[in-house]
Amino acid sequence: MNLSLIGKSISESVTLKLNETAAILRAKGEPVIHLGGGEPKSRAPLDAIVAAAGLINSGEVRYTPADGTPALKQAIIRYTEEFYGRKVEPENVIASGGAKQSIMVALQAILNPQEEVIFPAPYWVSYPEMAKMVGAVPVPVPPEDGSFYPRLEDIERYVTSYTKAVIINSPNNPTGAMYPEQFIAEIVEFCEERGLFPIMDDIYHRLVFDGKRPISCYKFSKDLSDNSKLIVINGVSKQYAMTGFRIGWAVASKRIISVMTNIQSHQTSGPSAVMQVAAAAALNGIQSSVESLRMTLENNRNVMVERLRAFDGVKTVVPDGTFYCFPDFRAYSKDSTKLSKFLLDKVRVVTVPGVEFGMEGFLRLSTCGTIKDITEGIDRIKWALDPNAPNELFIGERKLVRDWA
Ligand SMILES: Cc1ncc(COP(=O)(O)O)c(C=O)c1O
Repeated sequence: MNLSLIGKSISESVTLKLNETAAILRAKGEPVIHLGGGEPKSRAPLDAIVAAAGLINSGEVRYTPADGTPALKQAIIRYTEEFYGRKVEPENVIASGGAKQSIMVALQAILNPQEEVIFPAPYWVSYPEMAKMVGAVPVPVPPEDGSFYPRLEDIERYVTSYTKAVIINSPNNPTGAMYPEQFIAEIVEFCEERGLFPIMDDIYHRLVFDGKRPISCYKFSKDLSDNSKLIVINGVSKQYAMTGFRIGWAVASKRIISVMTNIQSHQTSGPSAVMQVAAAAALNGIQSSVESLRMTLENNRNVMVERLRAFDGVKTVVPDGTFYCFPDFRAYSKDSTKLSKFLLDKVRVVTVPGVEFGMEGFLRLSTCGTIKDITEGIDRIKWALDPNAPNELFIGERKLVRDWA
């Protein structure tokens, strides 16, 4: 069948596929531990639930403006002032069906076919596919020094006359690394000098540890007029544990937002009215759930890192935030897809292969589960990989016997 070339070049979302596989195995009664997940397990804030239920009960659930309701935009404006120290106007804001849609619509608004989008590796799995979907060319930048903290000089080396945008995701999925303020400053200044669009994917910005605070990229911009190319992405999915509500947003110049709004208006119209009400309520409501999630994740991170340290050969960089850890398993396998499949087959632990994030030999492990998931999950991985481990492992009543070297 002659389907489109772009369509055929897009790979399936590995992380969503893994969720499916885990659900099927669980439904069969398999004792699966899911360390592959990208969503917090806590409940959505009560304010969000009550507000959404109220609108549904009214029976008056209608289209909203394509760029979001005035009420949600006001909540985003207030949020931007509180966390970025920046006052914006409603015309600087678009609410979308998740941060994912905001990024996609931003790329559609700024990129021509063949133009290049740069992002440091390891990177979120969707960036390359999103760039390809608009006919653009994704350009991942591997870290020259092998660290999870990109340097401007590495990025500079990949800039060509086709480069149009740079996507920065900090704290980062999959590494949990929060890039230093100095790097954010350098990127903003560099993009302004070269006329590039910096896209700041800040979806995890409040989920940071060890006393770190969210960084505002606006501080480093010399030009916040309507010519500014800075696009800031955020949303309720991660910090408010509202992944299924599908609300994210972008804050940018009025020119960029008006083009994004036109695109979104023909693509999906405004996001769901019910979910916008819920997101506004979460942003305006009691914020204790965010801090409580942040503290839980920091504790989970500590437990995971400690457990991994007891694992000979596995190297772990301590994540600064998010709910991911990205240990180096190259001492055990150079092929992360094979390793991840092996761990699922043998000990029923779901992990995400590092190659999907542009870094082979690593696995992304999630700290979203319970402490028991984390400790038992890592113990099972260790048992499967460590040649000195005992021959048998009990998972509940089930006895596993090592039949591999
Ligand atoms: C780095 C990054 N950006 C954006 C998103 C998308 O978030 P949303 O659920 O708001 O679409 C994710 C979700 O996994 C992510 O990890």
